Amino acid sequence: MEITIKVNEKRITGKRSPMIYGHFIEHFHRQIYDGIYDPGHPLADADGFRTDILEAMRKIKVPVLRWPGGCFVSSYHWKDAVGAHRKPSFDKAWRVEDPNTFGTDEYIRLCRKIGCEPYICTNAGTGTAEEMSEWVEYCNLESEGQYAKWRIENGSKQPYGVRYWSIGNENYGSWEIGAKSTDEWGRLVREAAKMMKHVDPCAELSAAALPDVDWNISLLKNCGPYLDWLSIHEYWDMMAEKNCPADYEQSMAFTDRIDHSVDEVRGILKAMKLDGQIKIAFDEWNLRSWHHPNVHTIKQGVRKEEYITPRDKNDDNSTYTMADAVFTACFLNAMNRNCDIVGMANFAPILNTRGCIYSNKEGIVLRSTYHVFDLYVNYMGDTVVDLWAESLPEMTVTGKDGKAHTVGTLDMVATTWSDRAGMALAVVNKHREEAFELCIPQAYCGAETVIYKLEGKETDSYNDVGKTEVFIEKEELGNCHEGMKVRISPHSVNVIWLV
Ligand code: AHR
Repeated sequence: MEITIKVNEKRITGKRSPMIYGHFIEHFHRQIYDGIYDPGHPLADADGFRTDILEAMRKIKVPVLRWPGGCFVSSYHWKDAVGAHRKPSFDKAWRVEDPNTFGTDEYIRLCRKIGCEPYICTNAGTGTAEEMSEWVEYCNLESEGQYAKWRIENGSKQPYGVRYWSIGNENYGSWEIGAKSTDEWGRLVREAAKMMKHVDPCAELSAAALPDVDWNISLLKNCGPYLDWLSIHEYWDMMAEKNCPADYEQSMAFTDRIDHSVDEVRGILKAMKLDGQIKIAFDEWNLRSWHHPNVHTIKQGVRKEEYITPRDKNDDNSTYTMADAVFTACFLNAMNRNCDIVGMANFAPILNTRGCIYSNKEGIVLRSTYHVFDLYVNYMGDTVVDLWAESLPEMTVTGKDGKAHTVGTLDMVATTWSDRAGMALAVVNKHREEAFELCIPQAYCGAETVIYKLEGKETDSYNDVGKTEVFIEKEELGNCHEGMKVRISPHSVNVIWLV
């Protein structure tokens, strides 16, 4: 089937922030300890960071890294993890001991090594507004007060300049330690925001939001003037309790209205005339939720084997196939299309668990989703322009809910570069068997045409230790000529350059 498109480079949707390709890392399982932070490992540098993992993170130009949680943060006290005498604490979210050898100073060092912005999520569960503001003092004041002096005493004379802060994680959820009611939330966020901004007026603050009118209206009524961001989270294939991944077709069903949360929050911000002031931080997202059964429970007699050991099942690399790659590309396309209001998005997480990078003691595996970030970060432009297509095909697939979902078969975004000529077109083909012929607009005749393809042999292709089935292939197609068509393979993510 031939697909005809038109691109109008003069109709600009917006300039996307590089932070829509952001990431998240939590004190969970092997993300931090035995993950990026592994002092004594042969591949660890002098600060204890795995150099192979750092290199992979740098290649996808991680723009921002959210830390330390996630549910973990809602009973985390940052002071336990700075200074010469670290006190191990019991992590009541994930029910393990945290040695606190990785804390704020190590995190900032990690961000400097990656070259990314830090983004700290504070404890609005058991924490207080004052404790949050003291964390800002520690990181951002020159030397005023005991906490900036403590940072200097710990070896960092210069302030860290942490610009992005989130007040709380998912404090709306009963599963979250220190969960809050709508009213409690608005008041706490306002008091915390006041104190944090009084410490550093340049700090940009976010707070946990929901695509839920009551929660957001109360939050925005109480502290709209203090907020720069609203944080939303979404996982589609829910597997916390049962590790049963959606198959390819079921995963494609999840692409149905993939940006509904953005639409709903955009509507609330517009209604409250805050859409010019507040942006959306989609600061946790992934097709697949993390598997951690029996943790948000007070069911007595639950043994460690029932809630700690099963976390290793997240490490099954065969789970991360072209379904994950195609879904991830559809999500990133949606964030590009909504770049006027989405200023940040954080893949949850970057390393291990459901991350795009897997590590073990021997080395790393770049999962299918890693290559999607490589394509978008390194081959797409920074300015989203208007793309119009004639009669796009649709496909009906059966979702994990057993229902029929009709979704667009192709998902496309056109971009240009603000610093050079040319166009980069992302074309995602969700169909498991059908290929398409994309007709290149005549306006690009004469342009050098190159396609970067991520296809896999089949929908279930994946990468693992000693096995590479999913990787970017470059194909030079020569000068674009009249009537030129480019083949778009089944189950594929493609970036076409016309330069
Ligand atoms: O499954 C991981 C958890 O998902 C994160 O810690 C939390 O923010 C979200 O509910």
